[in-house]
Amino acid sequence: MNNPIISARNVVKQFGQTKALRGASLDVAPGEIVAIMGPSGSGKSTLLHSLAAIIGIDSGEITLAGKRIDTLKDDARSKLRRTHFGFVFQFGQLVPELTVLDNVALPLLLNGEKRTAAYERAKRWINKVELGDKADNIVGELSGGQMQRIAIARAMVIQPKILFADEPTGSLDTLNSQKIMELFIAMAREHGTTVIMVTHEPSIAAYADREVIVRDGVVAAAAQHAPGRM
Ligand SMILES: Nc1ncnc2c1ncn2[C@@H]1O[C@H](COP(=O)(O)OP(=O)(O)O)[C@@H](O)[C@H]1O
Ligand SMILES: [Mg+2]
Repeated sequence: MNNPIISARNVVKQFGQTKALRGASLDVAPGEIVAIMGPSGSGKSTLLHSLAAIIGIDSGEITLAGKRIDTLKDDARSKLRRTHFGFVFQFGQLVPELTVLDNVALPLLLNGEKRTAAYERAKRWINKVELGDKADNIVGELSGGQMQRIAIARAMVIQPKILFADEPTGSLDTLNSQKIMELFIAMAREHGTTVIMVTHEPSIAAYADREVIVRDGVVAAAAQHAPGRM
């Protein structure tokens, strides 16, 4: 692939005796939506966390727009995450006691933006996920589907280059899952955001531009149907 936005090259990651990644490689193009599939325990989340600079790796390389990020020190890594990456997980990344507006403005305030501008921008993103009427509600009062839409607004408010999602629809019903995937597609198409998500649900992965499969800690090669071979 020419000029991938992010790449993993031969990534190895071990937890104690467990080899979670055994030489995983993946290139993702700018603006692409990639679904990482594979059996439970195969290393999907570890691959996502490695790409997202949440965890360090034992060997191999992670590059963002051609520059190594796996070798960054902790504080540089956390700054990179705060400024370039958005995260949507299955549960828990919102502060339940705060309002929707406070939750979505928080990443901007943490990045040192002025309150007025931060709250204005947060409101725009809450409107984009069609929850403008809930801006002043406490997050803990929302439904699961609404919380995930707010999580997307909160992830997008910093205009990340890459949105990372781990089982983002894992706790949702079909209709709410569809809404989440439609939002990811809108983010990729309208804002050029690259979306990398882990899911074990084929119906969810089908929304992606590309599906890759992780097996035993490596990204399995895509199925090839070369002429003359079975
Ligand atoms: N923080 C951790 N400490 C110890 N073992 C871990 C940790 N994270 C993942 N593992 C192990 O690494 C393997 C891959 O895990 P994971 O990447 O979470 O798989 P998946 O997301 O595909 O279900 C599993 O055997 C898991 O138990
Ligand atoms: Mg996982």
